[in-house]
Amino acid sequence: MFIQKLKTICLLLTFCILPACSLVGETTDPVSKQPQQLKINQGFVNPIGFYDATPNFSWQLPQIEQSIQQSRYQIVVASNPELLPNQPDLWDSQVVTSNQTTFIDYQGKALTSRQKVYWQVKYWDQHGQPSNWSEIAHFELGLLSNQDWQAQWIEIDNQQPIKLNKFKTPIHIPQHLRTEFASNKTINKARLYITAKGVFEAFINGKKIGDDILTPGYTPYKKRIETLTYDVTNMINQGKNAFGIQLAEGWYAGRFGPKRHWHKKLELTPKVLAQLEIEFVDGSKQLVITDKNWCATQNGPVRTSGLYDGERYDANFELIDNKTAWHQVGYPTSSWQAVKTTTLEQDVLLTPKRHFTSKNKEELPALSVTKVADKYIFDLGQNMVGVPRIKIPMLKGQTLNLRFAEGINADGSLYTKNLGSAKQLDFYTAKQDGVVEWQPQFTFHGFRYVEISGFDESYQPQTSWVTGIVQYTDFALAGSFVSSNNQLNQLQSNIEWGLKGNFLDIPTDCPQRSERLGWTGDALAFANTSLFVADSHAFWAAWMQSIREEQFENHGVPVVVPNEVGEIVQAGWSDAAVTIPWDVYWRTGDTDILAENYDMMTRWIKYHQGQLKDGISHMWTVGDWLQPYSTMPDSRRGETDNTLISSAFYARSLDLVARTAKVLGKQQDWQDYQRLFEQAKRDFQQHFFDANGRLKVGIQTQTAYLLAIGFDLLDAETTQKAVPHLLAQFDAAGGHLRTGFLGTPLIAPVLDKIGRADVALDLVFKQSYPSWLYSVSQGATTMWERWDGFTFDKGYAKKAGSLNHYAYGAIGQWLYDRLAGISPLTAGYQNIRIAPIVTEHLSFVEASYQSPHGLISSKWQLNSSTVTLDIVIPANTTAQVEIPTHIFNKQEQNKASRTTKLTGDVSLNGQPIKQSLPSNNQLTLTAGKYKIEVKR
Ligand code: BGC
Repeated sequence: MFIQKLKTICLLLTFCILPACSLVGETTDPVSKQPQQLKINQGFVNPIGFYDATPNFSWQLPQIEQSIQQSRYQIVVASNPELLPNQPDLWDSQVVTSNQTTFIDYQGKALTSRQKVYWQVKYWDQHGQPSNWSEIAHFELGLLSNQDWQAQWIEIDNQQPIKLNKFKTPIHIPQHLRTEFASNKTINKARLYITAKGVFEAFINGKKIGDDILTPGYTPYKKRIETLTYDVTNMINQGKNAFGIQLAEGWYAGRFGPKRHWHKKLELTPKVLAQLEIEFVDGSKQLVITDKNWCATQNGPVRTSGLYDGERYDANFELIDNKTAWHQVGYPTSSWQAVKTTTLEQDVLLTPKRHFTSKNKEELPALSVTKVADKYIFDLGQNMVGVPRIKIPMLKGQTLNLRFAEGINADGSLYTKNLGSAKQLDFYTAKQDGVVEWQPQFTFHGFRYVEISGFDESYQPQTSWVTGIVQYTDFALAGSFVSSNNQLNQLQSNIEWGLKGNFLDIPTDCPQRSERLGWTGDALAFANTSLFVADSHAFWAAWMQSIREEQFENHGVPVVVPNEVGEIVQAGWSDAAVTIPWDVYWRTGDTDILAENYDMMTRWIKYHQGQLKDGISHMWTVGDWLQPYSTMPDSRRGETDNTLISSAFYARSLDLVARTAKVLGKQQDWQDYQRLFEQAKRDFQQHFFDANGRLKVGIQTQTAYLLAIGFDLLDAETTQKAVPHLLAQFDAAGGHLRTGFLGTPLIAPVLDKIGRADVALDLVFKQSYPSWLYSVSQGATTMWERWDGFTFDKGYAKKAGSLNHYAYGAIGQWLYDRLAGISPLTAGYQNIRIAPIVTEHLSFVEASYQSPHGLISSKWQLNSSTVTLDIVIPANTTAQVEIPTHIFNKQEQNKASRTTKLTGDVSLNGQPIKQSLPSNNQLTLTAGKYKIEVKR
């Protein structure tokens, strides 16, 4: 209480700016004052096999009672922890006057492959008081260049692919490859560097290395393949060792992507590359590499495994001889074959993985099991992506058949129509009677329901027989959002599951049908939302590298990355090349993402310019994809004029490239792109809008107005005039949305921007089709591709759609930024905007976000006499709090006014502050916990 009072006094004394004032109970415990959360680049904590020899450093100030601001910092970097902090042999930043705590570039001696580096940081607070040095953090570089590899690609000699009649693509039977080696001295450390053209799991002495899945992941394999590094020091015996690798087709060699491009894969066969480097205590080294000395077989238990089609396991083929397994020492290999080696291509870069691997992240127990015809269907209660883990009694020789689906038909059977040609089928053949425990290794499925048949029928199926193993990229969830409305909470959960389901190494459109591709337009829609939901900074930065690599020579950017679809470039999709780096920068404060992508972004502008005729773009686009009630011949395409869409995105990309140039200090470019943006705006307005702000080209649509206003393409006066026309479009639709992939993300932000958050709220809380809560009311547990993916009365949409498509989850951004009220005021949240919208639709909203500076949280509650805000601001930041001045009423109450004014009677931490509030009702606060009450 006393602390709160003191904070208030500080506030009153400083004209509404709460400075960092010394508060009671100032801790003398030096540890609690140390910098914390030491990370490098996009959030890596003490990584090994790191990808970047010129890293940058980030830390957080401690979140303690005092409001600390950093005034100076010092970073020291050394090759040995004993040299820290006083003899940093690699770099000493010296004392730098700055409040920056994120992405500080290393500027020391050149670092090399395998090098282990130690670092520490300290800061001085606003009073000039130094903190203690932080704990020592470290990183170890991976193999940074192809020259570091002595290993060769290996694969079984004379591979036996079997032809699939229907698709005419080869199925590559998974391989087991092995070698043995002796290490006769005491081991100091051992590292395994490994990757595959395909997907692999590696084993030493019978134990799996690491807990990653589907490694190395999915990049443009012709340009770059990511490598993994594992610390295997404790897995190697002094004496004999066995080293085994399982290899399957994965994204690289499997039936993946659109059918018309499968012929390109006909010649590709899976290969693996591994280099085990052992260092002994005496300083000597041993190298075990993939080479001619390995042997291989395709007669293992994983008979087939493909990403779309599933996995077939036959336990009769298990590679065990007299209790010795194939990956253990002494296993006989007389029936195994030689391997074929291929030398490394110099133009395919082998680079350490630059984001996090995928893992088994969560387990979903089955909630029920129902008999339908003579099959049993398990319901996990949640549409998910990953594999099943089964524990099922079987009889020798039986083959268990597992089928997967996102939904069920009216008769309770599996709904698989939306899977396209992806079979998603797993099989397990038992070699003896007993309970089988199994989880597929080299495939993934999108499903909520699992159907099984072919087990020991003397047992009654139990829910414990099937568990859903949820797999996605190993990042932490960063944001939370909960409100008093269960449907809104379900929507939030669906958005979160849309991310979990489509962030398996790359951002995908959907995870279940024969597609699962890195569609750029879907990513463009969802990136901002995803950056709140999860710490997806590294994930996006890695995918942007793939986009750079896939950019065409004519500067076009493909619609799918890695590119599996050929030379297709499309407005509103390919613009992700510009919008996503900007979104990532804005949410994280990382200017590297802009610097790394700047060249691609400006080349993309050139491509755009090549599509202009008299200032209007004629770039190809499928348009406002999946707009409901479209009258176009192909009803998947929205009604908004294509040239309007392409011209709007040209201008939008110019605007963001101009801003990027400014951030990067490229003055001339900034001015040039700014000028081009102004010109593009003028052309846009003149061509598409009349003097009354009314659209004059093509069909009147919500999306046309949303793009124009959302991208700031009309002058102020015309914008004002366009507003009634936009609102008329919502009225004409009975207060519903009529937008597809391009318009939907803009609805709420644009309505909010024009001062009509009330209309945005009406749309967000709408229950009837099409709306966000409509799918919730129809039982959705993920975001759907189509607004009417399933309806209780009509069943599944006629044009079968994916039930796990994140694009419409883009509404999340507005829920977090405005309904909860947490958004960055400057890039990376060093200045935070807390501006919640309070509405009678809800009695509370509570959200939090793990920002680069620490936890931000915002909660508002509405009761009969007050609106209460509880806010937490992290150290070294300031927040501008916009104190609510009114409550948004519910539409159906038919009140004359759409808002109810609050009294303006405001208290901060129990102290009235009405008089000291500026007229705009804004407070600037520094780190701390605050309670603001506004009387109704
Ligand atoms: C994908 C979409 C994508 C679209 C573009 C679809 O097949 O699933 O999400 O953006 O094609 O044409």
